[in-house]
Amino acid sequence: MADASEPRLLEPRRRRILYAMGIDYWVRRDLPASPCAVADSVEARQPPPRAFTPAVAPGWEQLQQAVSSCSRCELSHSRRHTVFGTGDQSARVMVIGEAPGEEEDRQGIPFVGRAGGLLNQMLLAAGLSRETVYIANILKCRPPGNRNPSPQEAQACHDYLQQQIRLLQPQVILAVGGVSAANLLQTDRSVGSLRGRIHHYGASGIPLVVTYHPSYLLRRPAEKAKTWDD
Ligand code: URA
Repeated sequence: MADASEPRLLEPRRRRILYAMGIDYWVRRDLPASPCAVADSVEARQPPPRAFTPAVAPGWEQLQQAVSSCSRCELSHSRRHTVFGTGDQSARVMVIGEAPGEEEDRQGIPFVGRAGGLLNQMLLAAGLSRETVYIANILKCRPPGNRNPSPQEAQACHDYLQQQIRLLQPQVILAVGGVSAANLLQTDRSVGSLRGRIHHYGASGIPLVVTYHPSYLLRRPAEKAKTWDD
C-alpha cells in the first residue's frame, strides 16, 4: 500500500503549470524515469520565467492554489493566510490596494479591517459594493508590522496580480494608495499628483484611476472629499 507520508509524484500537467508560474518543484531521482523525465529535468534547470505563457495560463482556481502555497519571498514564513482577492470575477471595476493588514492576514480576505470598512463606504458612494467589484492587493501576504512592501516582495507577487488582471479584464482599475499606484504605474510620484486624471495600465491600456488609500483617509479625514471626487 502507498505510504501516505510519501510525496505524490507531480504529473506532467501540474509540473508544467508550476514551471510556468515560476514555482520551484523537486523530482525524486530514485524513482523510475517517466517518459517526460528528460524534458522535465531540462525544464527544472531553467530559471523560472518572469511571466506566464499563454499555453499554460492558469484559471482562477489554479491561480488561487498557487498563491496559497507560494513561498517566493520571506513573507510566506510570517503570514497566517494568503489573501488572494475577493468579489465578482466578472466585475468591470478592479480595486487594487497595497497589502493585507493584520485582520486580512487573520481572515484571508482583503480589506476587512478598519480601512476595509471605509473602502466599502467609498464604493457605496460611487454606487458600487464589495460584491460587484473585484478587490485585490499588490501583495498577497502581510508584511510584518504593516510595513511597506519591499520592491523584491512586490516583484515576487507581480505575476499573480498580472494573472488576476488577465482573468478579470476589468474596464477600469482603481489604485488605492501610493504603493498600489507606484507598482502599477512604475512611478514614484505622490497620490496627490497622480489623482484627478485617467492613466492607463499595461499593453491593453486599461483605464486606471488613482485615489487615496482608506488607511490614509482614516488618519486625514479632511482629504475624504477629494476621494469622493475621484
Ligand atoms: N490595506 C490594503 O491595502 N489592503 C488590504 O487588504 C487591507 C488594508
